Amino acid sequence: MTNNGRIAIIDLGGQYCHLIARRLRDLAVDSAIFPPAISADVLSHYAGIILSGGPQSVYDPSAVTIDERILQLGVPVLGICYGHQLLAKLLGGEVTRHDGEYGFAQLTTSPPASSLPEVTLTSPIRQSPSPRLSRNKAGKGQSESGGRTDTADVLFHGTPPAQQVWMSHSDAVRTLPPGLITLATTDRCPCAAFAHSSKPLFGLQFHPEVVHTEYGAKILENFIRAICRIGEGIAITSRVPALCERIQRTAAGKSVFFLVSGGVDSTVAFALCGMALPKERVLGLYVETGLMRQGETDELRVNLAKLGLTDRIRIWDASEVFLKALEGKIDPEEKRQIIGRLFVEIQAQAMRQFGIDPDHWLLGQGTIYPDTIESGGDTGRAALIKTHHNRCDEIRELIRQGKVIEPLAEFYKDEVRALGRELGLSAHLTSRWPFPGPGLAIRCLCTQTGTAAAPLSQEIAASLARDGFEAVLLPLRTVGVQGDARTYRMAVALKQKDGCIDYEILRTLSSALCNQITTANRVMLLIGGNQSLTDACIVPATITRERIELLRQADFIARSEIEHVNLAGTVWQFPVVLAPLAFQNGESIILRPVNSVDGMTASFASLPAPLLQTISGNILRLPGVDAVFLDITNKPPATIEWE
Ligand code: XMP
Repeated sequence: MTNNGRIAIIDLGGQYCHLIARRLRDLAVDSAIFPPAISADVLSHYAGIILSGGPQSVYDPSAVTIDERILQLGVPVLGICYGHQLLAKLLGGEVTRHDGEYGFAQLTTSPPASSLPEVTLTSPIRQSPSPRLSRNKAGKGQSESGGRTDTADVLFHGTPPAQQVWMSHSDAVRTLPPGLITLATTDRCPCAAFAHSSKPLFGLQFHPEVVHTEYGAKILENFIRAICRIGEGIAITSRVPALCERIQRTAAGKSVFFLVSGGVDSTVAFALCGMALPKERVLGLYVETGLMRQGETDELRVNLAKLGLTDRIRIWDASEVFLKALEGKIDPEEKRQIIGRLFVEIQAQAMRQFGIDPDHWLLGQGTIYPDTIESGGDTGRAALIKTHHNRCDEIRELIRQGKVIEPLAEFYKDEVRALGRELGLSAHLTSRWPFPGPGLAIRCLCTQTGTAAAPLSQEIAASLARDGFEAVLLPLRTVGVQGDARTYRMAVALKQKDGCIDYEILRTLSSALCNQITTANRVMLLIGGNQSLTDACIVPATITRERIELLRQADFIARSEIEHVNLAGTVWQFPVVLAPLAFQNGESIILRPVNSVDGMTASFASLPAPLLQTISGNILRLPGVDAVFLDITNKPPATIEWE
């Protein structure tokens, strides 16, 4: 039977499941996402099957699994992360707990089995070599069944033997079953890729679908073209007509009342609705939350005027309401829920005031896919990382009632930017740094309890000291995403004794520290102030008008300085965070410049040291700031925002 030329993706609950479909779209390949319970019979005519990642452990009694007959179909199967582990387990291998490997890893393909190194004590800077494996363990080629095949080599065809990959796992394949061959390893993972010696079954522990995996697109393309034998399709040139048509269908007979923030997503979604529907059926509401950056509202007015939409926007000042509702709040999830609920309440209030009948209007939002998946997705299989404000309980209820329109809900930031350019929006707007709906509230860290910094383990501290670093563990909670699940862990603070910034060393150090210290998911470097880290103390703090204002000023300094040297376009986003971390009587500011494409993965940005010195010097002059830090963590293990 001929196959349908499509790929079936089985959603095992991973953060990047939908991103796999997006990557296939980039290759002009059509795909469909199925739940884990999908029967093998349904998939028999697909050209290939991809098993996504997921937050569980395959050895848990309640772990999600697939119809095992899928492996007998003769259809090529590629398992990614959890999918890789599940495939190995279903074929008779063993998966166990692993030390953890998050973010950057160096992948080596086709290592000769005899040259696998011995286990040695791990140094945070010099990463640990992989454990020596017994003959039956992962990492050893399965020579009994014939060793490597040409098909196996096809997966990495056209990629170098050493390449950067992005990892996010806390379990690993420990023993390979007969028939599977290890294709690649990393320092911490003895089986980072495998292939079956005689069947088209493949596993990748790393994520080829994220942009930070250097050759991920190539590896997926190899699977699609050479293994699944799907030919080149015709790439879609413009999505605008289909999107307009969908808006017209969804809004049939109704008008759209849009929540706009001035950011790329809501402006593009608003402009699309303005194009799809008669102008009088689209109205935008900009809520001044008191949590915006300096100059934000003025910039919005200018941008909307350029779009000719000034008369279709209402501005509503609710700063008092937002700040009052957030007073005394500490928990990041609670803050987001409050903000999301207030947006809904104000929208309803505004509708009443403008005489808008809710039965004839839909609520429009610029939600993009990462907002949905980080909020736990729509299927209930993905883990909750953080409830984005546009996925609070009240909005979910409105969605259930069919009262929400979100034209960009399937897209990623880079796709939205491309759409914006296609719609003729200015480059200034389409290349803007993303700014989250809850604004400065989620960059103003709060805590109830005062605590002192804690020392790191003697072994790690000694190793760091040899390399010229002082370090402490700060009981300052931050959100991370590790192994497709949310973590809420502490931050490691570093001080380089000679004050210099060597990004190569910091990059290795950052990954190694988060991989080794299971209570930490973030690393930051002191760049402003000559404090001794052991004096650091977390002080109780909640959201106050004064703290938000201090953060706004620090943010403005960082933004103005980077714009002044024309480097704003070199980073994807640059959150500035206020942390209740005192050395004298003040707090600390943390700079978080990152590189990304879609916000799903990120690496910390390496801004020139003189620019960082200028920014931190100016911020230190603000009354109430004791120190300035640079966040040097990738995503994973940390999310871009701290909360
Ligand atoms: P994280 O911090 O999860 O963020 O790595 C990924 C992207 O999403 C933005 N973000 C939000 N945007 N409402 C939003 O509209 C939210 O609640 C929210 N939380 C995070 C974040 O700024 C980054 O661009």
